[in-house]
Amino acid sequence: MSSCHKAYITTPIYYVNDIAHIGHAYTTIIADTIARYSRMSGLETFFLTGTDEHGQKIEEAAKARGKSTQEYADEISATFKNLWDDFGISYDKFIRTTDEDHMIGVQKAFKVMHDNGDIYKDVYKGHYCISCETFFPEIQLVDGEFCPECGKPTTVVEEESYFFRLSAYEDKLLKWYEEHPECILPRSKRNEVIRFVEGGLEDLSITRTSFDWGVKLPAELNDPKHVMYVWLDALMNYVTALGYGTDEANMDFWPARVHLIGKDILRFHAIYWPAFLMSLGLELPKHIAAHGWWTRDGEKMSKSKGNVINPKEVADAYGLDNFRYFMLREVPFGGDGDFSQKALIDRINSDLGNDLGNLLNRLIGMSGKYFEGRVDSSNVAKYYQTELDEVNASLEKLEPFLFEMQIHRYLEELWRPLTVANKAIDKYQPWTMMKEGKEEEAMALNGLIANILAKVSVMLYPVMPQICPKIATALGFTIDNNSWQKLIKENKLLETFTIEKIPPLFPRIEEPLLKQATPADKPATEAPKKEAKKPETKQEEGVALIGIDQFFQTSLKVGTVVEAQEVPKSKKLLLLQVDLGEEKPRQIVAGIKEWYSAEDMLNTQVCVVANLKPAKLMGMISEGMLLAAKDEDGLCMIRPEKPKKPGTSIG
Ligand code: MSP
Repeated sequence: MSSCHKAYITTPIYYVNDIAHIGHAYTTIIADTIARYSRMSGLETFFLTGTDEHGQKIEEAAKARGKSTQEYADEISATFKNLWDDFGISYDKFIRTTDEDHMIGVQKAFKVMHDNGDIYKDVYKGHYCISCETFFPEIQLVDGEFCPECGKPTTVVEEESYFFRLSAYEDKLLKWYEEHPECILPRSKRNEVIRFVEGGLEDLSITRTSFDWGVKLPAELNDPKHVMYVWLDALMNYVTALGYGTDEANMDFWPARVHLIGKDILRFHAIYWPAFLMSLGLELPKHIAAHGWWTRDGEKMSKSKGNVINPKEVADAYGLDNFRYFMLREVPFGGDGDFSQKALIDRINSDLGNDLGNLLNRLIGMSGKYFEGRVDSSNVAKYYQTELDEVNASLEKLEPFLFEMQIHRYLEELWRPLTVANKAIDKYQPWTMMKEGKEEEAMALNGLIANILAKVSVMLYPVMPQICPKIATALGFTIDNNSWQKLIKENKLLETFTIEKIPPLFPRIEEPLLKQATPADKPATEAPKKEAKKPETKQEEGVALIGIDQFFQTSLKVGTVVEAQEVPKSKKLLLLQVDLGEEKPRQIVAGIKEWYSAEDMLNTQVCVVANLKPAKLMGMISEGMLLAAKDEDGLCMIRPEKPKKPGTSIG
């Protein structure tokens, strides 16, 4: 059993049907940050990542490229591993589901669950989405055919299958969620899971017979035509990586401190995985933390749109640590994020360049000019106790933010000491003090600034592991458990040392550095001022709080439906022409047919989000979105209380 001195941190294992993109890098970078902090704070840490290589999707991807499945999996798995190595990701193990010991472990788990009566054989009839490797009941399908997750067509499957008695775990799961409010993070996501489980769980088909690229059943079952369902195989990686079923030496890292995942795979991790673990008699993970989705300039990334972001290109162009900082700071954990070069450049020029980099330059300048680079911290507390108290108060808040996955708040709070430092220089003016002969006070100020930078670089290190050691070197110390203990836990100061000059760490970026730039990528032409910067986004429980200026970026208007018709072959969609007082009506494709007929909508007024990028739905352009409210009783339109001229703005 894992003690509180151990931390086991995992990423999802990535499918080898495609190469790594920004979404994969995001999960891995968060996990790396947590792992680095854990190690620095003295926890014995095991950080796992790897690749998910079985299943029909991979088999088909290999076939499409004319390769053997193993050869193809080897190739793509290596691209993930190489990328993480290039990025200096500090994983302790890179698991592949085609590893022999993993497969042995999965078979052992299957046998344990079978022997205890949780697995039985029956016939599966249903709809399968190969892309999501998921079965869906008919009622969940879109228009009776399409996958509710990815929109691709599903296939009807009728085959003999082994089932896991998921239904038997409904109450136990609900009890677990109830007793461990922090088991799913952000906590709002836990409520979604609870609602889903309360809706009833069906037993889960966990083997397939229609293809064979997967783990075979244990020999004892003597049923060679079955292979295991890829999610059962994949989830088991979290314990087989520690030796479950083979050499169990590392099993004392179990249970995981945190499984980091994207919100799209929450159900598998928060429902199936704990149920499997209960069946195996293993403890449940401490946290399952689900982050949001990254889009590109407001649009979903896809190969066909050509807007997929290659994390290596971004890191090469802008610097790996800058990219890491941006991803973790820009988006409240759990919320969706948009990648634009402009946002990245603004973060680099403003937070990193202005707040952090300039402070270091000011320190190097000040200590060089007045003290030949020397720093003596003996009198810092005598003159600047208030500032020290403020800095320490911020630093004390940090660790819980990190372990509760509030990494954006961790970084937000970590910037406060930098503000304290920058303000102190402006307020006390070392140049004036020197003129007035207050050398002791000026040296103490020098010490205050140097120590604030030292403390910040220690706590920023897990996010920026290449840059922070450079700051530490300039300040004559090394970032490790000792310095963390002294500067952070014990609130002590570095005593006397000499500052080493280093070149500026965050040269200003004037133009987007990647070819794929769009107009939205242009950086602010002036140094972004604090107030003019992107409005602060705060988050509670995964719901982003926005400022009024952000709200006003949405254009809401009253419109009149001047034409309405059904979309052929669609159970959900109506095609509307809505007059917004513009030259011609807007075409809006609305998913409201279950509640409104075309006739119901004609000549009625609606509220429209008028400045959305046009989107395509079933091949038709939609130039806006209607406001509606939906609960268990159905959906209703939001309309003006009295008739208003088309185009009247709302707000
Ligand atoms: N193989 C499964 C995981 C099995 S874990 C036992 C899988 N693989 S995946 O390669 O499709 O996705 C891995 C992770 O990448 C998921 O956490 C997913 O959320 C994340 N992302 C993929 N695209 C993403 C974005 N555009 N944005 C953010 N993360 C996204 O699922």
